[in-house]
Amino acid sequence: MSTWQLAFSTHRRKATREPEFSWLDGRGHVRVQDVPSVLPSDLLDVDRMDLMHYASKSVTPAIYSGDLPNPSRILDIGVGSGAWLRDMSALFPDCDCVGMDINNLLGPDVLSSRISYKEGDILQGLPFPDKHFDFIHQRFMVTFIPAKSWHKVARDVYRACRPGGLANFSDLDFRGMRTGPIFQQLLGAMWTGANAGGADPGLAFGLESTLQNAGFVNVRLHTYDFPVGDWGGPIGSLTRLALERTMQAIRPAVVKLGLYTEAQFDQLIAGLPEELNKCRTCMSLCAHEAWRPA
Ligand SMILES: C[S@@+](CC[C@H](N)C(=O)[O-])C[C@H]1O[C@@H](n2cnc3c(N)ncnc32)[C@H](O)[C@@H]1O
Repeated sequence: MSTWQLAFSTHRRKATREPEFSWLDGRGHVRVQDVPSVLPSDLLDVDRMDLMHYASKSVTPAIYSGDLPNPSRILDIGVGSGAWLRDMSALFPDCDCVGMDINNLLGPDVLSSRISYKEGDILQGLPFPDKHFDFIHQRFMVTFIPAKSWHKVARDVYRACRPGGLANFSDLDFRGMRTGPIFQQLLGAMWTGANAGGADPGLAFGLESTLQNAGFVNVRLHTYDFPVGDWGGPIGSLTRLALERTMQAIRPAVVKLGLYTEAQFDQLIAGLPEELNKCRTCMSLCAHEAWRPA
């Protein structure tokens, strides 16, 4: 760990469930069906999560989907660095915002009288009463949730959402558009790494029936396409940076699975910026909006 990383991590709270983690190349990974998650969940991932948040904000018209008048309680599942929750708290200053995570990565810069942390594992159920929240949000969690657990997750979110309340499930579409061979290999590694724990990245754009079966109505999938690579101007450069950091973050899991050596994977990442420009690659952010009937 470099000096700046150490300095950065000391102001964050210590991970609370370290013994349940797998450690790959010094990075903490939660276990998904007993396999290390393809993405890490540790203090070193906090700045990547923040980067992903700013990249997402730059490609969507709003930081959530749905017309939500004056919520009084919001839950963010898998809150991570808390960047999204902090923005929501600024939008709705009188609202109580709760961030839940299996690992406490929130710092004092996020926590306040209106933003609190609750430890919890979404796969074990939400530690909240029925009908408690006006809005429940979950983003970038598709690789952490086994496909077979999504029905349970959707039912539980429905349970904790008040009648007439809103839920959002957002994720990246890891298929990409106009992808070259390097990006295809990197995206393939992401899919294989997620599949190893039973997760299905395709659910980023395929949750409608699961949400409807859980009882949600007016379920809509919003898809926001964006450029990846410097060819796409400042937004393309930002999303390229976020994507490169994401690929670097999955490297330990990919190497552990024997898909590539470290050197091979680094070589792919190094070749990515040029290829993205050549192919004028795009990706999509997918957001499912779902309502609990009043
Ligand atoms: C990729 S980060 C996304 C963070 C945040 N949602 C965002 O959009 O920036 C995934 C987060 O989910 C958390 N997580 C993973 N598995 C979880 C589980 N079973 N229950 C609760 N949180 C979990 C990780 O600790 C990590 O903070």
